[in-house]
Amino acid sequence: MPSRSFRSALPGWVSTTGLYVLTYVTYRCGAIRRKVAILNECVNHLAWLRDRFGRTNLHAHRESLWKSMIGEMQEGTWTVYEFGVAWGYTTDFWLSRVGNSVESWHGFDRFTGLPRGWRDLPAGEFDAGGKTPAIDDPRLHWHVGDVEQTLPSVPISPHRKCVLFDLDIYEPTAFAWEYLRSSLSPGDLAYFDESFDTDERKVIEHHVLKDFRLELIASTPLASCFRLAERISN
Ligand SMILES: C[S@@+](CC[C@H](N)C(=O)[O-])C[C@H]1O[C@@H](n2cnc3c(N)ncnc32)[C@H](O)[C@@H]1O
Repeated sequence: MPSRSFRSALPGWVSTTGLYVLTYVTYRCGAIRRKVAILNECVNHLAWLRDRFGRTNLHAHRESLWKSMIGEMQEGTWTVYEFGVAWGYTTDFWLSRVGNSVESWHGFDRFTGLPRGWRDLPAGEFDAGGKTPAIDDPRLHWHVGDVEQTLPSVPISPHRKCVLFDLDIYEPTAFAWEYLRSSLSPGDLAYFDESFDTDERKVIEHHVLKDFRLELIASTPLASCFRLAERISN
């Protein structure tokens, strides 16, 4: 029969042993290690959203988050700017559901993949062979090339704007925000497909939040969507 002091120490011993086993198994297995690291980033992402913007409406999948954004876009006339298209999964999902309130859709991509490595992905990941997706919709305008080159020649719409960021990496995402920021207005929407990652988070922290107060509409463990509230700077 263990002594009283030993029994009261047992939970601590069990948790220390559990921690040892979990740490050892995670440390030894690269695949588990990567999953644990991403889980940690997702938890930190949700904590950051809560601390910065209050309670989040959490969705399991980005598709259900997109449906809630589409629900927000039933009134008025909207233009969508999609940064990072690849094979057009997002474009196709949205255009088959948005209805008439979206009058035009601008898709920006070099279609040759990431210009530099990002996380554990090499440069060239998401290479669509230079081809635009085969989506047939008269509202759709493709802008092929580096966004730093293509965006400045696109006329800015006078309508409400929904901006979808999925370029993954900091530099072009920051460029797109800096280019559009003065044309955006309170009520417009901004979606970040990887706000759990440091690149897009840096754009939100260092650029977006300097220009607008943000209202968090919803998130997933990886992504988030905001409504622009009042402008902070011009
Ligand atoms: C994650 S993929 C987009 C995936 C797409 N949104 C989807 O859900 O299917 C990221 C894309 O960003 C594009 N990209 C990254 N940097 C870019 C840049 N500077 N200019 C244009 N496109 C860029 C890449 O070519 C790649 O196709």
